[in-house]
Amino acid sequence: MSKALSRNVWAQSAAALALAAAGVSAQAQSTPVKIGLMLPSSGTFADLGKGVSNGFKLYVNEQGGKLGGRAVEYLAVDDESDPSKANENANKLVKRDKVDLLVGTIHSGVASTMAKVARETNTLLIVPNAGAGEITGSMCSPNVFRSSFSNWQPGYASGLLAAKKHKTAVTISWKYAAGDESVRGFREGFEKGGGKVVKDLTLPFPGVEFQPLLTELASIKPEAAYAFVAGAAQVKFVKDYAAAGLKTSIPLYGAFLTEGTLAAQGDAASGMQTALHYADGLKNPKNDAFIASYTKAFGAKPDVFAVQGYDAAQLYDAGMRAVKGDTKKKAEMIKAMENAKLDSPRGPLSFSKSHNPVQDYYVRVARGNQNVMTDVIVKGLVDPSPDCKL
Ligand code: PHB
Repeated sequence: MSKALSRNVWAQSAAALALAAAGVSAQAQSTPVKIGLMLPSSGTFADLGKGVSNGFKLYVNEQGGKLGGRAVEYLAVDDESDPSKANENANKLVKRDKVDLLVGTIHSGVASTMAKVARETNTLLIVPNAGAGEITGSMCSPNVFRSSFSNWQPGYASGLLAAKKHKTAVTISWKYAAGDESVRGFREGFEKGGGKVVKDLTLPFPGVEFQPLLTELASIKPEAAYAFVAGAAQVKFVKDYAAAGLKTSIPLYGAFLTEGTLAAQGDAASGMQTALHYADGLKNPKNDAFIASYTKAFGAKPDVFAVQGYDAAQLYDAGMRAVKGDTKKKAEMIKAMENAKLDSPRGPLSFSKSHNPVQDYYVRVARGNQNVMTDVIVKGLVDPSPDCKL
């Protein structure tokens, strides 16, 4: 073969290879992107899991069912909020189903294991609720993002709020990562505002035997109380608190305590003040549109969990748009997600260096079936995440 001819053959086969490669990637992008939803659909956090899942799907439906030009296929696992099953459940989605994105979960202990699996397998993970500090702290990773909060954030904001009126407080929480970290955040904010936490009372997750703790609280007589119990259990907690006659004598604070449950709590919750990064009574065009379309799609009012699910999908879409659906371009996707400025129903949402939300914390007052926004307690609150080296 002459030199010129062989060069020509080489050029032709290179072109053929390039075409074939383009064909393969075009084919990959015409297949649906696989999203693993690892959320609780049973137990005390079942409604929270549903809110996240509904919110995520609502955003995708608003994009015509496609992200980065690709259809979406969901694979769902009920994680039961059980940390002992988390490794197996996460691996089912990652190794068996080969999902492109893992979304989950509500419970901090389960989510920490998901983050470990995501790190080990370099799978993209978006945490749409669980606040475990280590996920965007000591365990932080380029492929792990959170669309919700770190437990420290709402605890800290609640501490600042309670310190405006009170000097002493007792905390009540479930004894697991979320309870411990939420109380730590509360203490920091409360002390910053000049208050002092005089006692921490705890019970095991997901227990609802609140009576002995309420009796002890009444005997200590602090000026205020802060509680972290969540999901279905917070309905019983707030009702037990009122029934014990404590509602007016020891005002109760808690970031999530009235979120999504006002209808079930009724008068027991009325007038309660909370600090959170969302309020259904928040007035902005995005929230108005979100509440209208969520209510139309699901026949129920959205809550903060639905917002966090919606924003998890928005965040993923920022990455998918940047690479036109080519999920193999992971570094480019991650960069676009890091730089995302989302128009969230909660207000402007961006991400810190550790991939945790930077967001405003609102003061809310429970009136009827709404958490009415009355003030902003901290603007653009960043979890300092000193242990994250990204
Ligand atoms: C958590 O486990 O991190 C958690 C669960 C429920 C909440 C908030 C945090 O409402």
